[in-house]
Amino acid sequence: MSFIIGIDGPAGSGKGTMTKILAKKFNLIHIDTGITYRAVAKAVLDNNIKLNEKEKIIEVAKNIDIQIKNEENVDKVFLNGKDITKDIRSKEVTAIVSQVSSIKEVRLIMVDLQRKLAEGKNVIMEGRDICTYVFPNADIKIYLKASLEERARRRYEENCQKGINMSYQEVLENIKLRDENDMHKEIGSLEIAEDSIVVDTTGFEIEQSVEKLTKIIQEKMKNM
Ligand code: DC
Repeated sequence: MSFIIGIDGPAGSGKGTMTKILAKKFNLIHIDTGITYRAVAKAVLDNNIKLNEKEKIIEVAKNIDIQIKNEENVDKVFLNGKDITKDIRSKEVTAIVSQVSSIKEVRLIMVDLQRKLAEGKNVIMEGRDICTYVFPNADIKIYLKASLEERARRRYEENCQKGINMSYQEVLENIKLRDENDMHKEIGSLEIAEDSIVVDTTGFEIEQSVEKLTKIIQEKMKNM
């Protein structure tokens, strides 16, 4: 039996930061499902496959070996044994990941992997379709949102800290495009599950968001 908290929301809504902090607080395993799609996008680039070569992309997803190992609170990602932790955040991967993740067959393979990663564990899982598709029966469902400008600012600052070279305008345009694409997928679109609790983090400091989410989780747990 697993205990599952699903956190959905668009890029920059605070999912990553929140799930890492809450995982520690509630002693849960943190799973970032975006990593799985980013790893496929990285393999697509490594193999010089174009975005219109759908069959080749599906083949890559079918044969991919993705390992995620948490080392000192950092998710280390390995693609066919090679450490790609930093590469999956690159401008090039970020530019194509949403389109790669729109391919139905790719999604089905990755969702299967995501479900396996959670098997028998107590997890907090972040993504776009966790509460609607991957785990529609998750124990606690949360949807995080924030204004486009604030999300772009957060992601821009994060990128600067990680040494990823993208201007604020580039980040904003990329997020806008990804939002649009993520909301119009054949399966697993970015949507608010009927029973998700929506939290708008616009204008919130990290501590305020943590406090708000902690209260929601504690309240829900009390009634279980
Ligand atoms: O959370 P992220 O920015 O690392 O996600 C990268 C892309 O992967 C995002 O643009 C959409 C896709 N994704 C998805 O379709 N479903 C998920 N559960 C997680 C990510």
